[in-house]
Amino acid sequence: MSATRQASPLLLLAAASTLSAAVWARVPTSEAAPAGYSYTLAQAEVGKTVYTAHCAACHGSKMEGTDDGMDDAPSLVGARFDSHWRSRPQALFAKIKQSMPQDDPGVLSKDQAADVVATILRANRVVPASDSALQGH
Ligand code: HEC
Repeated sequence: MSATRQASPLLLLAAASTLSAAVWARVPTSEAAPAGYSYTLAQAEVGKTVYTAHCAACHGSKMEGTDDGMDDAPSLVGARFDSHWRSRPQALFAKIKQSMPQDDPGVLSKDQAADVVATILRANRVVPASDSALQGH
């Protein structure tokens, strides 16, 4: 039965880290951002222009999303967005660069896509991890 006793601290540790991850997701502004979240506030400002020109028509002026039947554009802020994308900024970049705007994918330059990702991270209150700009890969 010593095997059981040895396993329990590990399980506790796993439970504890899951819990802290969940807490972190709910109070993002109080914690430092994970690696990969480097963007500048200047980038987030520039990205607003990109957002207004290329995204707002479908995702809404406040990133609230649209709800008009088959072609719903999801909200880019809030809990659902958070759980899909918060820990994956490069995947978010790739999704946007490759498939958005949905009616004209590929129109954004790498810089424009990186800037709009910064704007979206900012809107989700992700605290930049450093002063260096987010680079698309
Ligand atoms: C013509 C309408 C339209 C435009 C313009 C558009 N989108 Fe989308 N977007 C959608 C639709 C519909 C989806 C859901 C289907 C999908 O994921 O491909 C989506 C999905 C997304 C997602 C995934 C969201 C999630 O949680 O699954 C992101 C991120 C996104 N769009 C960002 C952008 C950005 C940034 C722009 C501007 C560069 C943009 N979109 C422009 C319609 C649009």
